[in-house]
Parts: sequence; C-alpha cells; structure tokens
Amino acid sequence: MTAKDLPKVELHLHLEGAAPPAFIRGLAREKKIDISGIFAEDGSYAYRDFWHFLKVYDAATSVLTSPEDYRRLTLAVLEESAASGVIYTETFLSPDFCGGRDLGAWREYLAAIREAGEEGERKMGITLRAIVTAVRHIGPDAARETARCAAETAGDFLTGFGLAGDEKMHRPKDFAWAFDAAREAGLRLTAHAGEWGGPESIRDALADLRPERIGHGVRAIEDLALVDRLAEDGVVLEVCPGSNIALGLYPGWRQHPIAELDRRGVKVTISTDDPPFFHTTMAREHDRLAEAFDWDEGQFRRIHTLAARAAFCDETTRDRILKRLEAPT
Ligand code: ADE
Ligand code: ZN
Repeated sequence: MTAKDLPKVELHLHLEGAAPPAFIRGLAREKKIDISGIFAEDGSYAYRDFWHFLKVYDAATSVLTSPEDYRRLTLAVLEESAASGVIYTETFLSPDFCGGRDLGAWREYLAAIREAGEEGERKMGITLRAIVTAVRHIGPDAARETARCAAETAGDFLTGFGLAGDEKMHRPKDFAWAFDAAREAGLRLTAHAGEWGGPESIRDALADLRPERIGHGVRAIEDLALVDRLAEDGVVLEVCPGSNIALGLYPGWRQHPIAELDRRGVKVTISTDDPPFFHTTMAREHDRLAEAFDWDEGQFRRIHTLAARAAFCDETTRDRILKRLEAPT
C-alpha cells in the first residue's frame, strides 16, 4: 500500500497555515494587496526561523478578509488533505483572524468554514471538526475574548479549544481563565507546549490548563520522568515531525524523538501543522517516517486508530471513523 492510500486522522492543522501559496497569491492579486515579500522565487513561502515564520503567517493571513475567503480556503485545504488519504481532520481557527474577536463576525466565519466542511464531507469523504485557538503572543486579554467566542459557538462542529503561537511569550497560567471558560462550555482542550519551550513548559501547561492533548510536546524527551508521566496519564501528543525538522528543532528525521516517545509508551499521533510552509503533506510525513524508523503499515494503522480515539468529536462520528480505519483498502 502506498502512503497516500492509508486512511489517516490528522489532529493538528492550522487552517491559515495550510493555505496553498498559490491560493494566497491569487487572493492578494484579487484584492491588490502586495505581499510579494513573503514568497521565495519558486513560489513557496519564505521565512528565516520560527519567529519570522509567525510574521509571514500573519502577512499571508492578511489577505483572508471575509467568510467567503475562509470558505474557499477550507475547501482548498480539504482537497489537499483528502489527496493525502486523510479521512478526518481537526483544524485550528482563531477569532483573532476571523473577524477580530467580534462574536457576530466570528459566527459568520465559523458558519462559512462549517459549510465548506459539509461540502468536503459530501464530495471528498473527509470529516472536519474545528478547534478555536488563542494566540499566545497576542496575549491573555485577547485570549479571554477568544474563549468567549468559542464558548458561545461550541457544539458538534466546534469541539475544542487550544493555545498556539509563540511559546516563549507569557506563561500557561496566564491563559487559565480562558481554558476554564472553554472547559465549562464543554470544549475539549489541547495546548501547544514543548516545541520552543522545554519539559518545564509542558509541565506548566498540564498543571495550569489541564489539556488532554499537547500540541508537539516532543521536548518531553529531555526529561524521562515526564515521558513516563505522559505515558501513564495517557496524554496524547499531536506530533508534527516535518514541521519540527523544517523549523530546525532536529537536524533530520532519524534524530526526531517520535519513535523513542512511542517506544516509551507515549500516545503519539502524526500531523503536518502548516504543511505548505514546511514543504510537507500527510503522505510525505508517512514516507519519511517509514524510511527513518522502518515503520510499517501496522504501525501507522495503530497510530491512526489512537488518533481517532483522541479526536474531539462525538461518539457516532468516532465509530464511523474507526470503522473506515479498520476497513481493508
Ligand atoms: N501557529 C502555527 N504554527 C505554529 C507552530 N508550529 N507553533 C506555534 N504556533 C503556531
Ligand atoms: Zn501548531
């Protein structure tokens, strides 16, 4: 079986970060916005490091100015995911980008994204759920407004709340109010940690935000007592190996800790984060992991079953996804 044919579950995908560069260039042209500086000569996104990546991300996002833009974006992203064999995906959304944290505007953006998700389900057989993320470097005050938007629109489509952005800014406890509000609204929780911060950052996120999943979390490997705790507590890591390697966290695939974390009993899953920024796709992640660690189809099937069990969706949807993962291809 080729990597593309294996059915996959992706838990960690930033919607704007998944925007194909040609799509963003097209919108910039339509709106006469000059963002030519963010592209390399070959048309891909150009950035120097993670912090510059966040700036390029914001510049690319600046051309997405209406619910209709997000409807089109969502469809373009789902097409790419479906072409890689993804059958279920969760995408991070931010009211910061979608309507500037105004609840009325946010409802319209969310409705447009949901509509695209339903079209994706009908036409491509891919299921979409959404996770609102507060953006860490925008700060805790904004995160409170973001959490209010999320709480007001929580339901069968918007199922989670999380924290992304610059891990070196603020502390997890600064976002505890936002996470508590989201939890009370019935949203499931995840937080980026252990990407640019070390094990302490993961410990703080677990203590102060009480998420059931951690975005990245790979730097837990620097503290084996923490690795054992993650394994014992069943904390799920949304691991994005190609993202970590493209951003220089590890020099190559063989040095990436995903296999070691898995061997030590941590629930690891596989995602792309911001695929065009990192020149990756879900199919490519599988090819590279198979090469680096000699992982076979059984290993990938086990990981995607685990991802489906950790998905922020209702039980009927989960059963349907699990059945599709089990079906022979
Ligand atoms: N936003 C988009 N991609 C991100 C990443 N890899 N880490 C933190 N915030 C992000
Ligand atoms: Zn991320």
